[in-house]
Amino acid sequence: MIEIPPSEAPVKHGPEINRRRFLVRLSITLSSIGAALIALPSVAFLLGLRKSPQIWRTVGSLDDFKIGSTVNVAFEDPSPLPWAGVTAQTTAWLRRVDEREFIAFSTICTHLGCPVRWLAEADLFMCPCHGGVFYADGQVASGPPPKPLNQYPVRINKNSVQILTMPVPIA
Ligand code: FES
Repeated sequence: MIEIPPSEAPVKHGPEINRRRFLVRLSITLSSIGAALIALPSVAFLLGLRKSPQIWRTVGSLDDFKIGSTVNVAFEDPSPLPWAGVTAQTTAWLRRVDEREFIAFSTICTHLGCPVRWLAEADLFMCPCHGGVFYADGQVASGPPPKPLNQYPVRINKNSVQILTMPVPIA
C-alpha cells in the first residue's frame, strides 16, 4: 500500500469553503455589473454616441408677444430626468421682431454660465457675475464673455410660438 504524504493529499472542500467561494464569485459578478451600468453612459457620452434630443417646445401663443418686446419664457429641457423636478425647467429671452419673426437667446452667459438679464431701458443683456454685456442682437459689447449669446431656433406652428430645445454650450 502506497501512502500519500499529507501535503500531496487531495484537499477536501467542506460546505463552508464552497459557500465562501460562491459568495466571492457572486460579489465579483454583481460588482462588475454595477460598474458597467455606471460606466456605460459616461463612455457613450465621451464617444459621442449619446445624443441629446431636440424637441420643439411651445412657449406661448402668437398673441402673447408684442412686436419689439423681449420677454423671458420658460420651457422644459429636451431630456428631463424623472426626478429633476423644477430643475428640468429652463428659460430663454424671446423677442418678437415682427409679425412672423422671433429671435430667442439663451439666458446662459458664454463666459462662465451665469444667467444674463435683459435691460430694456439700456437695450442690452447684462451678466451680473463679472460684468459681461451683450448687445440686443446677442453680440458681446464688453467684459469677459468670449462669444455672443447662443440662440435657439424659433418657429410659428399654427398659432403657437415654439423653441427648439437643445443643450447650450458655454465657453
Ligand atoms: S459669467 Fe457672465 S461675465 Fe462671467
